[in-house]
Amino acid sequence: MSTGFSVTTVAFAAFVHHAAAFAIVAALAVELALLRGPLTVESARRIQRADLAYGIAAAAILAVGFFRVFYFEKGSAYYFHSAPFIAKVSLFAAVGLASIYPTLEFLSWGKALRQDRVPDVTAHKMGVMRSLIHWELVGLLVMLLCAALMARGVAVLG
Ligand code: HEM
Repeated sequence: MSTGFSVTTVAFAAFVHHAAAFAIVAALAVELALLRGPLTVESARRIQRADLAYGIAAAAILAVGFFRVFYFEKGSAYYFHSAPFIAKVSLFAAVGLASIYPTLEFLSWGKALRQDRVPDVTAHKMGVMRSLIHWELVGLLVMLLCAALMARGVAVLG
């Protein structure tokens, strides 16, 4: 399908999409690793920075993703009939919902960190955040499978 855009533009969009996906996985891996150790002022600040990078990469992948759906790849009619695409975007929404609780918690650390104090977090809350991030990473892995199936025309409906 001719998109009317140069192959360089289409390739650059794919690059940004992949780079954002890598950044999301890296940010979550950093958060999970730091949440395993004892929380310090430094590790809490690093977690906040990783979560900010996660948010920016997620916004980028969503924006570029829709540009790829509507302008750069096979056209929206194809993707909206692609079961793996529908599964991928649904998983993306579920991963986004799972990220809300940890993000709100990390943001609540601002006051303590401005006073160079270690945020007061219960072991239970740390455990909940670790398991949410763990399931976010599982969701991303399944999204990668959906992406490969979607790009190659597997399970197109109708
Ligand atoms: C964390 C979230 C995401 C990850 C990890 C991800 C990953 C990928 C990967 C690896 C590919 C290349 C597939 C291949 O050629 O084998 C891809 C392609 C694509 N993705 Fe995503 N993606 C994500 C989110 C999204 C979102 C939110 C959208 C749409 C709103 C989207 C739309 C697309 C499109 C249109 C393609 C091109 C498929 C084709 O070549 O026909 N992606 N994605």
